[in-house]
Amino acid sequence: MTPDLLEDGAARLAAWQRKKAEQAGSSGDRGGAYGRVLKAGEPDFAHGVALYLDEISVSFDGFKALNKLSLTINVGELRCIIGPNGAGKTTMMDCITGKTRPDSGKCFFGSTIDLLRLTETDIAQIGIGRKFQKPTVYEQLSVFDNLELALRADRRVRAALFHRLSGAQLDRIGEVLTLIQLQREAQRQAGLLSHGQKQWLEIGMLLMQDPKLLLLDEPVAGMTDEETERTAELFLSLQGQHSLVVVEHDMKFVDQLTQGRKTVTVLHEGSVLAEGLLAEVQANDKVVEVYLGR
Ligand SMILES: Nc1ncnc2c1ncn2[C@@H]1O[C@H](COP(=O)(O)OP(=O)(O)OP(=O)(O)O)[C@@H](O)[C@H]1O
Ligand SMILES: [Mg+2]
Repeated sequence: MTPDLLEDGAARLAAWQRKKAEQAGSSGDRGGAYGRVLKAGEPDFAHGVALYLDEISVSFDGFKALNKLSLTINVGELRCIIGPNGAGKTTMMDCITGKTRPDSGKCFFGSTIDLLRLTETDIAQIGIGRKFQKPTVYEQLSVFDNLELALRADRRVRAALFHRLSGAQLDRIGEVLTLIQLQREAQRQAGLLSHGQKQWLEIGMLLMQDPKLLLLDEPVAGMTDEETERTAELFLSLQGQHSLVVVEHDMKFVDQLTQGRKTVTVLHEGSVLAEGLLAEVQANDKVVEVYLGR
């Protein structure tokens, strides 16, 4: 082939890739991000890794909250993180989301995005959603309006959004309402929901932005047993499509999430003390001594 033909072919390929990327970006197809052609600055999950922490250390006035913490979360994985109070679980999430800057170490989203170079806002926009313990929904607004607001807060959508929601966006709100089991509460004022329902609504608001990675810090604290069980079902339905990191003290909930098959990570004094199936870490002497045995 002549250089001219090669160039022509490359230009046509690039045009086709751009068109595909635009289609994938605007179609509302949640699965699309995994297979589509990457735009500049987009995370790359081709190697199967969603999040990679390498020897992250953080000190507060000389106290090491994280001490060379290393952790890898795979694409689509649901990972539970347990450990005693003060182990550094929340600080780890603060580092991933740009709230706290580590003193040293690496933190990558996919294989190319260095999270330590991004601001908190950038990190939220590239697909990392975080749920704090306390629900923060707009109490005066309806459930539907809360979800719509979350959609409008997404920079990618805002650019294409006029005054009215498109059919695809309405579909997405409907899909999320079903996922969080609040279809029948759509027009209800959020302030009137139960504690558990508010937590689900907030998770729904995160889902409106289609995060590839969800960080959930003690999501079932204060929930009834039934709400806790439904939350486990919700998270299990999200795995695969999203990667989830769930910090919890509730072992029954962790058991429901891991189903005897998934890896659990135990944090202690800012680093990984043990990793394995829940039954394995529960039988680990070191883990029993510092956490479960107390
Ligand atoms: N901003 C801060 N300034 C000073 N110390 C802090 C700060 N944030 C966290 N720490 C300390 O770092 C340690 C780890 O705290 P962190 O909140 O990450 O623990 P945790 O594992 O989330 O605990 P818990 O299970 O109680 O939520 C604690 O000793 C805490 O007091
Ligand atoms: Mg915490």
